Amino acid sequence: MTLISKIDENDIDKQEIKKQAEILKNGNTVIFPTETVYGLGANALDDTATSKIYAAKGRPSDNPLIVHIYDKKQVDELATDISEKAHIIMDKFWPGPITIILKKKDIVPNITSGGLDTVGIRMPSNPIAKELLKEVNLPIAAPSANISGRPSPTKGKHVYDEMNNRVDGIILGGDCTFGLESTVLDLTNDVPTILRPGSVTKEDLESVIGQVNIDPALEKKEDNIKAKAPGMKYKHYSPNADVYIVSGHIDDVIKKVNELSNNNAKEGLKCAVMCLEQNKNKYKCNTIVLGQNLEEVASNLFNALITADEENYDIVYTEEFSRCGVGRAIMNRLLKSAGYKIIKA
Ligand code: TXA
Ligand code: MG
Repeated sequence: MTLISKIDENDIDKQEIKKQAEILKNGNTVIFPTETVYGLGANALDDTATSKIYAAKGRPSDNPLIVHIYDKKQVDELATDISEKAHIIMDKFWPGPITIILKKKDIVPNITSGGLDTVGIRMPSNPIAKELLKEVNLPIAAPSANISGRPSPTKGKHVYDEMNNRVDGIILGGDCTFGLESTVLDLTNDVPTILRPGSVTKEDLESVIGQVNIDPALEKKEDNIKAKAPGMKYKHYSPNADVYIVSGHIDDVIKKVNELSNNNAKEGLKCAVMCLEQNKNKYKCNTIVLGQNLEEVASNLFNALITADEENYDIVYTEEFSRCGVGRAIMNRLLKSAGYKIIKA
């Protein structure tokens, strides 16, 4: 049985938080909302508890978990060799959607770090997550609360549909504001490296700590197996439909999608295009609107991929987005959900 707690982030029911915190303290699993996506949490310092996360998600165990905290002081318990740049990042962006990779202390079990000698740490800003972490007063390992390979859930309904009865507790707390998982920044070398792009962008980081690299393995399929964040090498964010990115000038993209979808319809295939609101009426096939700007696209993307499944599409085309700012994170997730399939318009 899963204990379900519906909690309003503007009027947090402390009794419900206590009940869910108790589950975590007893070495069991609780799903909770964060500002990025829902997380599937367990005590990061307890092998038996964290192994329940891998089991619930069906996740390969060489893929390390992010450890969530509510107070910067907890970083010293978990990590060592904390650089000046790391302190700047924590002060500037925490609580918020960025995970930092530091050298781990022995207290962090290998199952949490996926066998690496580093640990990923994040302080979320979502008020429910903060309250829960404070009440538990333990570092909580939490990957995104999806079955491994599926889009990360950003809405309570999706979490419930996919994970009810796979975990011990679920806190339903409304929609996640950013909608894409946190930026993962490796701070174990002189020049910090982005291992997973997110809402805190390369530009944001460079404005406070100078040069930041991007793991070159992120951009190409062939290189993806060498990605430094083990999670980036797996097939990911995949709906049941076959996803294709259609690339080119927007007028050509619209023409191409209309041509392709016309052919698909003749073959009896159900298809849709994920697009910007302003282009919606130019398509002759079904549309899944992502929003009017990059922030809205980021926030709606995983929801759109799950909608594609609910509406049983065979094929989903998507517009391509600029790789600037949060666009880099959007294109990273889209490329993975499309299995790197790009059609030139
Ligand atoms: O926004 C988020 O980060 C969400 C919420 C729940 O906080 N969590 C999340 O966790 O996305 P997960 O497990 O789905 O993704 C963690 C990513 C994976 O790609 C993993 O390989 C990478 O971070 N990662 C974690 N620890 C790492 C480490 N020590 N070194 C390199 N990569 C690491
Ligand atoms: Mg994930």
